[in-house]
Amino acid sequence: MSIERKGFGSAGGGEETRLFTLKAGPFSAGFSDFGATLVAFEAPAAGGGRDDLVLGFSRAADYEGSDAYLGATVGRFANRIARGAFSLDGKDFRLATNNGPNHLHGGKRGFDKRIWKTEGYEEGGAAALRFELFSPDGEEGYPGDLSVVATYRLDPAGILDLAFEAECGAPTILSLTQHAYWNLRGHDRGGILDHELRLAASRYLPVDETLIPTGELAPVAGGPFDFRTAKRVGRDLAAVGGYDHCFVLDREGGLAGSGAGEAAPALVDFAELRDPESGRRMRVATSLPGVQLYTGNFLSGFLGKGGARYHKHAGLCLETELFPDAPNRPDFPQATLRPGQVWRHATRYSFFV
Ligand code: BGC
Repeated sequence: MSIERKGFGSAGGGEETRLFTLKAGPFSAGFSDFGATLVAFEAPAAGGGRDDLVLGFSRAADYEGSDAYLGATVGRFANRIARGAFSLDGKDFRLATNNGPNHLHGGKRGFDKRIWKTEGYEEGGAAALRFELFSPDGEEGYPGDLSVVATYRLDPAGILDLAFEAECGAPTILSLTQHAYWNLRGHDRGGILDHELRLAASRYLPVDETLIPTGELAPVAGGPFDFRTAKRVGRDLAAVGGYDHCFVLDREGGLAGSGAGEAAPALVDFAELRDPESGRRMRVATSLPGVQLYTGNFLSGFLGKGGARYHKHAGLCLETELFPDAPNRPDFPQATLRPGQVWRHATRYSFFV
């Protein structure tokens, strides 16, 4: 295993960024300190050679100019908060609104647009990166200082582990996610509608016209949201106009908690994605209670790395998260983090080639 480092261009007002490439066995994962972003993930191909399975750009400035969150580590709050408003302990807070009337993925300059302090290390047979970020009280409207550590670890068997730990200086809200757009055939090999997906989720969150959950946890049974038995992603996609929904992950003993101040909940194996053409499979497990299935509905045909064009449905995101708009929904698993608590969650991606 090894870790390579090189420049990734300037961003963030002239600051230099870097690209770190973790190599373990036949796999490699490239991350930038700009956004703690997964820029590339290479896996072997059955007939020899390798493919890069995530959508990305070739320099930090392109990430800075994009609102697609390709591969980003997203914070403070993954997905939407209605009208950017919530109250906590009787105080009202106003967050930046950057998605119609709503707050999305941390606001105008979320964690995906910050340069993270990054350290690479080797551990057992694995190569790892520890990303650290400090977010001051008031950033994008959020209360309380916040320190976040995101650790990504790649092992030679094809397991990519992500672990989050965060602590705050005053009560706040938090839901971190990883926003990679996967295409198991290769990022430049067309769309994901033929991929097969299994999701261990018996319920999902219906949304209003601005993509805010209505509050209902609706059964998927028999409808277009039912992925409990593997099916083609494109099979029922037209019926919902493209997936951009949070699924409630089935878990023994009910929903996973906020992750604040407790031992991290156990990982639940909730998804398997398979590309029938290459035969590649990815399994995902998480401690979080939900996953946003987003089928790249808003990808507009922009130019990515290596001259690839990313059209609608070029990649698919499985964003493990607390539920969108949780701060305004007392009946959802709570997103509150308080001083003295540690917010801990983990997600594991396993690849089979
Ligand atoms: C959201 C989409 C959004 C995309 C990129 C996803 O997590 O659910 O609505 O367009 O991120 O910004």
